[in-house]
Amino acid sequence: MEKNRNKEFFFNKLYHLLFSEKFSKKINYNFDKKNRLDLIDFVIKKNKYKKYLEIGCNQDEVFKKIDIDKIGVDPLNGGNFRGTSDDFFIKNSDKFDCIFIDGLHIYDQVIKDILNSIKVLNENGIIILHDCLPSSIGHQRVPRTRYNWNGDVWKAIVEARTWNDFDTFTILADQGLGIIKKRKNPNILDIRNSSFKNLKFKFFYNNYKEIMRTVSFNDGIEMI
Ligand SMILES: C[S@@+](CC[C@H](N)C(=O)[O-])C[C@H]1O[C@@H](n2cnc3c(N)ncnc32)[C@H](O)[C@@H]1O
Repeated sequence: MEKNRNKEFFFNKLYHLLFSEKFSKKINYNFDKKNRLDLIDFVIKKNKYKKYLEIGCNQDEVFKKIDIDKIGVDPLNGGNFRGTSDDFFIKNSDKFDCIFIDGLHIYDQVIKDILNSIKVLNENGIIILHDCLPSSIGHQRVPRTRYNWNGDVWKAIVEARTWNDFDTFTILADQGLGIIKKRKNPNILDIRNSSFKNLKFKFFYNNYKEIMRTVSFNDGIEMI
């Protein structure tokens, strides 16, 4: 299994060497010690939320600690719905207060997960996304070339930052915790772009504070 993975990573590296953007600078975010579970715990208690959805559960590190009514979606490990997020949203008729998106970290899938989540989000609900702040081009490459990987989730956050009716920002903790709330956007990102998917890491590196609207953990929970 691990041998196959390493082989896959080797061929993906070769692909990137030949065809992808090259950029060697890295970002040191100085992340807060608080993590995704601290944040999810906080929003559930503060808002007295009743219903939780997690997309991508793996070892249930977060899912097992949630003590409200919950659904966890994963095609391989953990949770209580076996299948992809697309399978789940086709069948689902429930509404949720807190949705944690941490499944397939590829822009096309993440933007689909966000749009499907918005349709089933209760008024005053919140969407949280993991892995929004990659520290190097290697951490965000698609297809992936390493175990420790964020993917290009960040591009979906940039897209959401341009919407009028959603307030989107990113908390500087735990690989970057994206927040999307349904309310007027007080800080619309004005970006003329024909394809969010094709955004470059160099652009992210130079502009991440503005395009992701990064905030500290403490400021983030005030804004929620
Ligand atoms: C990073 S792990 C999730 C970690 C977990 N949320 C946590 O906080 O500990 C990503 C998981 O997403 C799952 N996954 C991959 N593709 C998916 C998809 N299309 N829909 C839902 N989950 C997916 C993988 O099987 C994997 O278990």
